[in-house]
Amino acid sequence: METGAGIYLNDKVVPLAEARVSVLDHGFLYGDGVYETMRVYGGVVFMLEEHLARLEKSASLIELKLPKSPRQIKLAIFETLEACGHKDAYLRVTVSRGEGPIGLDPELCPRPTFFIIADRLKPQPRDIYEKGIHLAIVNTRRNLKEALDPQIKSLNFLNNIRAKIEAKKADAFEALMLNHRGHLSEGTTSNIFFVSEGALRTPGPQCGILRGITRDVVLTIARRLDMKVVEGEFTVEDLLGASEVFITSTIMEVVPVSRLTISMEGNRMEGTGIKLSVAGEITRALMAEYRKEVLSYVENTKAAGPSLWGFTE
Ligand code: PDD
Repeated sequence: METGAGIYLNDKVVPLAEARVSVLDHGFLYGDGVYETMRVYGGVVFMLEEHLARLEKSASLIELKLPKSPRQIKLAIFETLEACGHKDAYLRVTVSRGEGPIGLDPELCPRPTFFIIADRLKPQPRDIYEKGIHLAIVNTRRNLKEALDPQIKSLNFLNNIRAKIEAKKADAFEALMLNHRGHLSEGTTSNIFFVSEGALRTPGPQCGILRGITRDVVLTIARRLDMKVVEGEFTVEDLLGASEVFITSTIMEVVPVSRLTISMEGNRMEGTGIKLSVAGEITRALMAEYRKEVLSYVENTKAAGPSLWGFTE
């Protein structure tokens, strides 16, 4: 089998060189579209149903009708994965408003553009799990919920890209954005958790975050382990009082934070910032349980039969 990127465009798998989208596509012109990133373990798409539900939700929040049913999307995903040939893969499903004349009116675009990219999962730098990452609290504020709801996983990522640029300048692996009220929100492509006063804490949906699927899995595991869990509104001071901090995302899973700095105007911290214990007890427990959760998901899905890998009829 050929191994490379697998691409599905609109209604079939195509070679990468033929996977072209019009310059009049409103996804390109205006960032008008939505997407999902999934992780494939041993040929099984982890949390496929949840990702498809979120795709549907993002689309409905911008009044975009998906051009395929969930079942059709699943079939397209499996075709793409087969074309890609990697069992441990990165998978992205994108739906844009489609091609149409210049102008913002969605009705200018009669047919959404649909594509899937599946490719080998690039390994994360090993160090990040052992040594932890540097997280910088940046100036860029997370989009106001009432302006562009972070629940919409849209193609318009400039908010996050601006934060990412700041993180890079600060030599940090990830940026942490505050919301307009100065409360913690989320990273550029991750959610944040911290441990203080015996509880696991994470900004709640009211803070203007994308409700990460990894975040939900971690919350479920933490409750199962009888940890005290608080979803709420937290300040920078709350975070500075933490004994453990970690971030979560589909691709990275659970990653400990070992250094926290503030790169906000007028607030630059001297020296190296807060040093946290690398992967404290709770972080380590959750990292291990998350891996177990993935393994059992993969096993259960495979046990349901090869034709059902990753999906139910
Ligand atoms: N990003 N917050 C934002 C803004 C994100 O973009 C992501 C995911 C997350 C974590 O969500 P999840 O656990 O469902 O991956 C939080 C993906 C990985 C991406 O942009 O490709």
